[in-house]
Amino acid sequence: HIFGEERLNSQGMNLNIESESLPFLQELNTFATQQWQAGPLIDGEIYSGEAASVTSPYDRRQTVGSVSFADQAMVNRAIEKANQAFPAWNATLVSERAACLTRLADLLEQHREELIALCSREAGKSVQDGIDEVREAVDFLRYYGAQSQQLMAPQVMPGPTGERNELHVQGRGAFVCISPWNFPLAIFLGQVAAALATGNTVLAKPAEQTSLVAFRAVQLAHQAGIPKAALQLLPGSGATVGHWLTSAENIAGVCFTGSTATARLINQTLANRQGAIIPLIAETGGQNAMIVDSTSLPEQVVQDVVDSSFTSAGQRCSACRVIFVQEDIADRISELLVGAMEQLTIGDPNSIKTDVGPVIDESARDGLLKHGEWLKQHAKVIGEMTLPPCCENGTFVAPLAAEIDHIGVLEKEQFGPILHLIRYKASALDEVIEQVNGTGYGLTLGIHSRNEGHAQQLAERINVGNVYINRNQIGAVVGVQPFGGQGLSGTGPKAGGPHYLTRFITEKTFTNNI
Ligand code: SER
Repeated sequence: HIFGEERLNSQGMNLNIESESLPFLQELNTFATQQWQAGPLIDGEIYSGEAASVTSPYDRRQTVGSVSFADQAMVNRAIEKANQAFPAWNATLVSERAACLTRLADLLEQHREELIALCSREAGKSVQDGIDEVREAVDFLRYYGAQSQQLMAPQVMPGPTGERNELHVQGRGAFVCISPWNFPLAIFLGQVAAALATGNTVLAKPAEQTSLVAFRAVQLAHQAGIPKAALQLLPGSGATVGHWLTSAENIAGVCFTGSTATARLINQTLANRQGAIIPLIAETGGQNAMIVDSTSLPEQVVQDVVDSSFTSAGQRCSACRVIFVQEDIADRISELLVGAMEQLTIGDPNSIKTDVGPVIDESARDGLLKHGEWLKQHAKVIGEMTLPPCCENGTFVAPLAAEIDHIGVLEKEQFGPILHLIRYKASALDEVIEQVNGTGYGLTLGIHSRNEGHAQQLAERINVGNVYINRNQIGAVVGVQPFGGQGLSGTGPKAGGPHYLTRFITEKTFTNNI
């Protein structure tokens, strides 16, 4: 069962097939008013303190449940427990650990509707995004389970006669996993699965905006047979729980997905703490571009731009932020783009008709709206949608597209449904390449061109982790498009790729003069 040769990817679901979608939507609806609770889970025990109410970004009047956050004493206790649990979990057969992950994947599929409802109500994810979210989480679990069995098999090394040399691989210890709200199940479980598969115990800190999804995932993980002490959950903010965890002496590594600024902070915290020098795996932001030349097919370009920039309300690290369009076709692309934006349905993420749901919270919305205002003053707006009345109690941002002169005017990544367009002359392609590389980020790149040599040259000269030619640039599939960037976009190795697990292990060479 090697992932890639004999594909094991989960199939997801086609909402256009009524016989599949109707029972699914009915089941989904049974979770429409359910309330969930979350709190720190230390050795399987739920710690409930003062609980904060969780409301939906779609409509702040709707409650989803409540969460209590971990305090410093709980964090310390969880670190101690995770370290105590490490030797036994590390000594467990790799095939048994993988079996636990596979059982968790099965449980996620069994609880698919609940998890999708929860992603929608807590994180504002559309139904399609929810389906993809569960699918990706399942894929990570099965993929890392399969990969760990290959990676962790001891290897006999060549050597002189009379000497036996073996390379053994094992976990590092108690691993800190800090995950983002934009993939509250898939990235949360992807990190956890990688750490667990390789024999580490886990201290998981989910984004505080999506603690309920994480809590439910950990409950299912324990149900799947992952020992309670091997997976500890610590809901809370980065400034509190995140800081306490990453400044602790007795941790063995940190796996982080989030902003570049936070990754820097974690790096500093790790450098200043006592204890061993430990790995940081950081998957961070981007200033992702798509380059469109005059040989491309405008209708396809626009479809792929809309998918890349506005799916998930633009809240994907892979999302396209800037399209560079060769000036000969720029007017045509702008015109088609406005038409396509007008077709988008904004609103209730729970409805399958919705294309664009809310952004995660007030602070995200306010930052995006501020940037929108700046664009209205300093750039040329190409298209802006208006929000329907159903959005008034939620944290929505209307999709916006504006023309700017240079990528350098964008001071930071705008993590939402805002797209920028830059015209370029065919003779100025080198300058386009310089602009994109000049951001220092390097996550995804889209290219639309029917000139294969041209596309290939761009793909080679632009420093990114994932290049997509003549398609959209989001939705990397586990084991198919290993995902992750370079430069300001992250340390690697790529999630869902064959090298990811290598940062979670230590190696030990045994030499025996027999
Ligand atoms: N893995 C996600 C994607 O490819 C990251 O945002 O879209």
